[in-house]
Amino acid sequence: MERILPFRFDEKERVFWLLDQRKLPLEEIWVPVRTAKEMAEAIRAMVVRGAPAIGVSAAYGMVLAHLRGEDLEGADRLLRQSRPTAVNLFYALDRMRPHWGNLAGSLKEAQAIWREVEETERAISLHGAKVLRGQVLTHCNTGPLATGGYGTALGAIVEAHRQGRVSHVWVDETRPYLQGARLTAYELKKAGVPATLIADNMAGFLMAQGRVDAVIVGVDRMALNGDFANKIGTYTLAVLAHHHGIPFYAALPLSSVDPSLESGQGIPIEERSPEEVLELRGVRLAPLGVAAYHPAFDITLHRYLTGIITEKGILYPPFDEALRDALGIS
Ligand code: MRU
Repeated sequence: MERILPFRFDEKERVFWLLDQRKLPLEEIWVPVRTAKEMAEAIRAMVVRGAPAIGVSAAYGMVLAHLRGEDLEGADRLLRQSRPTAVNLFYALDRMRPHWGNLAGSLKEAQAIWREVEETERAISLHGAKVLRGQVLTHCNTGPLATGGYGTALGAIVEAHRQGRVSHVWVDETRPYLQGARLTAYELKKAGVPATLIADNMAGFLMAQGRVDAVIVGVDRMALNGDFANKIGTYTLAVLAHHHGIPFYAALPLSSVDPSLESGQGIPIEERSPEEVLELRGVRLAPLGVAAYHPAFDITLHRYLTGIITEKGILYPPFDEALRDALGIS
């Protein structure tokens, strides 16, 4: 099967190449990133997006800062300011800090962060596949494009399909940025998994008809009690699944848990430009002068979760105990 990668590093040319996810699926265009400043801008503009992929990109942003002789403090600051919600960004930059001033060390650490994405996602996919069956619904994009590895929620779906457990995927289009329509549909098509695109507001109707056996989503930041931020619309799906008695899973590497937060209340939610709601690929949808609001993520309370799928296995309630145990903290 053809492997999808959101980025590649050309060490000789000192360039980190990003597959421009704003242009997919209509065009496959690679964008060169030469400095940490350019990387911060690419993350902010969502040339690259998805929590683990943002983490890997930020780590290589620091490698570029070393290669280009940028001010490391400034590079780190710019990258930290690029997007606020996915904790993987901060996790990766924290790991890079001890290697500041050491090019070989910083490159090795960035490579390790990327390699660990692949390793953890292989495990997440295998664990997650065990609990999925029949028709599965997913939201946003959690596949290779969002991570640089196999994917989290989507990795589990593809693996469950490979094992003959999952027959069909409902793909939420994921307004307003359309990660589902543009990216998840693209990845599932390439993986040969039968999928049907739906507008976000159709999920409840399908659940009421008994056509959804499980919902699985990714995570941008999880608190120690299991509350988590993910793409706007996830909370709505969680409540709907709960109402209909449908299992609802979150899949994530443990690096997406923020051990400084007891609950989801403290998770910073990114607010993006209203233009992304008012326009679609540059085409105006609403009358001029109309206001729009664009929170890019929402918080789902842990009580709606059936299980949390991690590289260490599937965690069940009470989640605070299970997460502390998995993280090795008291
Ligand atoms: O705004 P995005 O596209 O970066 O948001 C991505 C998501 O919300 C994903 O579900 C999340 O990062 C998990 S990716 C494995």
